[in-house]
Amino acid sequence: MRELNGVIAACPPSGIRRFFDIAAEMDDVISLGVGEPDFVTPWRVREAGIYALEHGYTTYTSNAGLPALRRLICADLAQRYGAHYAWDGECLITTGVSEGLDLALRVLLNPGDEVIVPEPCYVAYEPCVRFAGGIPVRVATSWEDDFAVHPAAVAAAVTARTKAVLIGSPANPTGAVQPRASLEALMALAEEHDLYLVSDEIYDRLTYTGAHTCLGALPGARERTVVLGGFSKAHAMTGWRVGWICAPARIAELCVRVHQYTMLCAPHVSQIAAVEALEHAEGDVTAMVADYDRRRRVFVKGLRELGLECPEPAGAFYAFPSIRRSGLDSQTFAERLLHEQRVAVVPGDVFGPSGDGHVRCSYATALPLLEEAVERIGRFLATVA
Ligand SMILES: Cc1ncc(COP(=O)(O)O)c(C=O)c1O
Repeated sequence: MRELNGVIAACPPSGIRRFFDIAAEMDDVISLGVGEPDFVTPWRVREAGIYALEHGYTTYTSNAGLPALRRLICADLAQRYGAHYAWDGECLITTGVSEGLDLALRVLLNPGDEVIVPEPCYVAYEPCVRFAGGIPVRVATSWEDDFAVHPAAVAAAVTARTKAVLIGSPANPTGAVQPRASLEALMALAEEHDLYLVSDEIYDRLTYTGAHTCLGALPGARERTVVLGGFSKAHAMTGWRVGWICAPARIAELCVRVHQYTMLCAPHVSQIAAVEALEHAEGDVTAMVADYDRRRRVFVKGLRELGLECPEPAGAFYAFPSIRRSGLDSQTFAERLLHEQRVAVVPGDVFGPSGDGHVRCSYATALPLLEEAVERIGRFLATVA
């Protein structure tokens, strides 16, 4: 048989899935592995989806998505962050941020273009750069300074082939929120070297210790930034598959070009539910965020009391403690913790080499289970440390 696509064949499967598969076969596992809210979608949003189905909204929408939804997203960005995008021409609805990321990279990159990716980072970033013909160039960040993305480190990675920087804040897996000053410095660097910025802001509403900065709102950002957002996390809508891209018109137009041939449109029913989410679910989001924050504080305190150093997770719903005092590498730690104490966490190195020595724990898990998980981790540490 002829060879299949070499880029795709060379891409390893996600390191997160492997742990899910093992944990799924075991009883009494507390899973801190999934990057997914444990809330169901707020009832009023589900009801809007039911209404849409009952009334036969089962067709395609326009390629760019329902105008009502695009208007709401742009109004929300303007009001919340001072980022101004035209709903008609600078905004499109995608099937999740996953598709948004893929579209943005395909539109920005020519074969061989380099994309700087600060790591540890979300597992899809590097594969998506490669699938789009690009070359990911890692820039290490470290927990000693809260996984800050230092413009000097990014500058040192810039070559003649660098086309873009891909950044996620608040971040998966670290929970780090980049301060506004760092993002401004990054923007200045992008201007100096004529780079694009792809900003994954899927966790924008999940910040606990400071305000989120939308990259699209920074001075000078507008022409070179693609902002990605969605409904999966803050609105607990992972299965509905709705996200969005806001970008300057010539980028947004080409994103719609790819989207219209490969996806056609995001699911109609889900777009109607997303309209309801933006119009009427603010109270639900606030309540869920407050609940994550409660769990975050209990869980991080518990980890620290066990002697694990844990950088303050300022956003998203992940803690990323250092497990160095166990003397184990991340893979061995996660495997043994799962088999010996039945707690599933994700080894930090699946998010990039700087993640080694850490594990990712999602605290989007019921509080009693988080407390039980801390006890089990304590029992495990007592056997290894
Ligand atoms: C940082 C980040 N970006 C994007 C996604 C994908 O989100 P969506 O469900 O909108 O495709 C995730 C999901 O875990 C994520 O953590």
